Amino acid sequence: MSGTPPACPDWLVQRLRERGGAVPFQRYMDWALHDPHHGAYGAGRLRIGRDGDFVTSPSLGPDFAALLAPQLADWLAALGTGALALVEAGPGEGSLALALAEALQRHWPELAGRTTLWLVEPNTGMAERQRRRLQGSPLPCRWTSWQELAAAPVRGVVLAHEVLDALAVERIVWDGALWRRQQVRLVEAGPTGAWLRLEPGEPLEPEALAQLAALGLEPPGDQRPPGWCSELHPGSGPWLQACAAALADGPLLVIDYALEAWRYYAPQRSAGTLLAYRGQRASPDPLLEPGAWDLTAHLCIDTLQHQARAAGWQVLGQCRQGEALLALGLAERLHGLQQAPEAGEASGLAELLERREGLLRLVDPHTLGDFRWLAFSRGAMATPRFLLPPDPGSWATRQTPA
Ligand SMILES: C[S@@+](CC[C@H](N)C(=O)[O-])C[C@H]1O[C@@H](n2cnc3c(N)ncnc32)[C@H](O)[C@@H]1O
Repeated sequence: MSGTPPACPDWLVQRLRERGGAVPFQRYMDWALHDPHHGAYGAGRLRIGRDGDFVTSPSLGPDFAALLAPQLADWLAALGTGALALVEAGPGEGSLALALAEALQRHWPELAGRTTLWLVEPNTGMAERQRRRLQGSPLPCRWTSWQELAAAPVRGVVLAHEVLDALAVERIVWDGALWRRQQVRLVEAGPTGAWLRLEPGEPLEPEALAQLAALGLEPPGDQRPPGWCSELHPGSGPWLQACAAALADGPLLVIDYALEAWRYYAPQRSAGTLLAYRGQRASPDPLLEPGAWDLTAHLCIDTLQHQARAAGWQVLGQCRQGEALLALGLAERLHGLQQAPEAGEASGLAELLERREGLLRLVDPHTLGDFRWLAFSRGAMATPRFLLPPDPGSWATRQTPA
C-alpha cells in the first residue's frame, strides 16, 4: 500500500479493540454494510441511481421492470386462483417494486387485485426510504422478514436483484503452505491514529478445506502463488433456506454478478472479485472509509445452485442478462423507442435518448448484460420464457422485409 493508510473510524476502533484487535473479513464486511448505526446500508447511507453511489438495472429507468413484468405475470398466473405474493428481497430505493406493481395494475389487473407486495429489507435505513417511495403503490405493501413469512408461507414470486452480493463473504488466502481465513487488523499507530490492515488469519478447518477441494482449489497447485486470495459465500446457503421456508409455491429469481466456479477461482483471478463502490467510483480496497462504501463480491454459480438444492429448491437454469432481456423483447422495445412520435420534440428527444442509452447498458456484455439471471422454484414450474431457446420462426418473420 502506498501513502498514509486511511484512519479507522472511532466506532470500528472500539469494536476491534473489544475483539482483541482483529476479526475475520466476513465480520468486518457485515459491520461495514449492515451495522444499524454505522453501516453503509444499515444507516441508509448508500444511494442507488445515476446521481447516487452506483447504478443498478432498475435504477436506469422504467424499461427493466417493463421487460420483466410479463415474466412475472406468467409466473403469478401459473400459480392459479387465490391470494398471491410478489416478494422483493433487498428492494434498495424501491424502484423495481414500484414499477412492477404499476405494470401489474395496468396490464394484469386481475392478478394485481390478488397480489400483495412483500418487502424483505433488514436495514431500517433503507426500509424508511422504500416506505416513502412506495406510498403511491397500487398494490398493498408490507415490510416483513423471512421468519415472519415462514409462519404462513406465501404463494408467489421472489425477486432478489443485487441482494446476495451484499451478503458478507469470507476471504481465503493461500500463504504458500496453508489456506487461511483473511482477517482485518487494527494497527494502533499511537495516541493520534489507528488504521486497518488485511492479513492472513487462522488456518481453514477440514470442513472448509473440503469445500475448497470441491471448487478445485485444494490442493492449490503451482499457479496460485502465496498471497492468492478469493472469496467463499457462507451467507447465501442460510439465506436460501430462510427464503425457501417463506415460499410455499413459486419461483425465485436471483439477478446478480456471478461466475461459474472454474472462472471464479481461475488461477489468474488472484484477488477475487471484491470491489468497493461510492460516488460512481470503484475501488479494489475494501478498507476505505468503512461504512461509507458499498462492498460487493460476485456470486459463484456452482456454489449457489448447490446451496439451493440443499435448501429444497429446484434449479430451473441460468443465463446472462443480455440473453434474458433479448428473449423478453428488448430489441422490439428499442425499435419501438426509435419510432416514438414525440422524438422530434426537444424534451421528448432527451428522454428517448436517455432511455435508449439505458436499454443498451442493460445488455452491454461488459457491464450489466453480463449479470446472471438464476431461476429456482419451490414445486414444479415450467421453464421461464427467458430461458427458452430463441424461436427461429419468429426471428425470421421479423427479419423478412415487407
Ligand atoms: C445493492 S442494493 C440492491 C437494491 C435493489 N434491489 C436494486 O437492484 O436497485 C442491496 C439491497 O439489499 C439489502 N440487503 C442487504 N442484506 C440483505 C439481506 N440479508 N436480506 C435482504 N436484503 C438485504 C440492502 O439494504 C439493499 O436494499
